[in-house]
Amino acid sequence: MKSQELFNKKLWLAPLAGYTDHVYRIICKRYGADVLVSEMISADALIHRNKKTAILAEFYADERPIGLQVFGNSAEKIAKGIELLKQYKPDFFDINMGCPIKKVVKNGSGSALLKEPKKVAAIVRKVRKTHPEIVFTVKIRTGWNSDKHFDDIVTLIEQEGASGLILHPRTRSQLFSGKSDWNYIARAKELVKIPVVGNGDILTPEDGIRMYSETGCDSIMIGRGAIGNPLIFGQIKQRLAQPTQNVNSFLHPISIMKGHFKDLVEFHGESNGIKLFRKFVPYYTKGLFGATHLREAINHLTSKYEIIDVIEEFEQSVVNG
Ligand SMILES: Cc1cc2nc3c(=O)[nH]c(=O)nc-3n(C[C@H](O)[C@H](O)[C@H](O)COP(=O)(O)O)c2cc1C
Repeated sequence: MKSQELFNKKLWLAPLAGYTDHVYRIICKRYGADVLVSEMISADALIHRNKKTAILAEFYADERPIGLQVFGNSAEKIAKGIELLKQYKPDFFDINMGCPIKKVVKNGSGSALLKEPKKVAAIVRKVRKTHPEIVFTVKIRTGWNSDKHFDDIVTLIEQEGASGLILHPRTRSQLFSGKSDWNYIARAKELVKIPVVGNGDILTPEDGIRMYSETGCDSIMIGRGAIGNPLIFGQIKQRLAQPTQNVNSFLHPISIMKGHFKDLVEFHGESNGIKLFRKFVPYYTKGLFGATHLREAINHLTSKYEIIDVIEEFEQSVVNG
């Protein structure tokens, strides 16, 4: 895997547990995402041979380049988790040091690691020593409840041998509140020579362009801004290629939504596909006339044919204005 393929102005789809399954990753790739990452995978669960967890690591050849993301609370477990994930032959690995959710941090994993720069260093060192040949990134926030260890952690991640850094510049205490502070992305670029992937609050193509220009980051990663809006990747590419032209797209989100639904049902089966799809509907239909009615209908219908019918009816009403 050439570093260029990941870090040379590439557009990454962020890992979003519960959303970025195989089906949605492929949709984002189709509309312009360059690099994909799996949802977070527990090193503990891998070590205990949990079958449900192993499914999270599966991907298809057309998803490359793709990284598998692992989380855990010790250097040994994370290195072991990566060893177990190697059988899937991902293009790279990512270590999660940013997850803020209680279940994860109370165990000392995710963003809880940011309280201890020495532990961060030990994890990166162990992974590099155990797996000298792999490409791996580390995904962090700015800190636990302040930025007091930020410079140390960023510097140590480089010194101990990570291939790149992904930064969502909020502290753990902020969860998803307020705005991410992109100055920290620029700061990380000053501190290290390894590539930096900027992440946080890219909701429009303009935000993506602005993150590049304001921070000097090497690649950008988009999460919530891509849910129900996979076109954002192609729109950013269009903007990068022709900065003065208006972004236009010929596809309506509702036709993408219909395709997404069909793919989910085909991949996960009717019942699970419908359940997964319901989470996406508010995002695809945000601000559209009649959306509340459509969402309610989809939340109650249990047959794929009926759901396709209501989507098509809605599509017609949107097209006809
Ligand atoms: C529903 C949801 C699930 C997430 N799951 C993961 C995950 O599995 N691994 C991870 O590193 N980050 C996860 N994140 C964080 C995102 O990858 C990303 O860092 C964060 O949402 C900020 O980027 P955004 O503003 O573009 O969404 C998740 C975020 C959300 C909202």
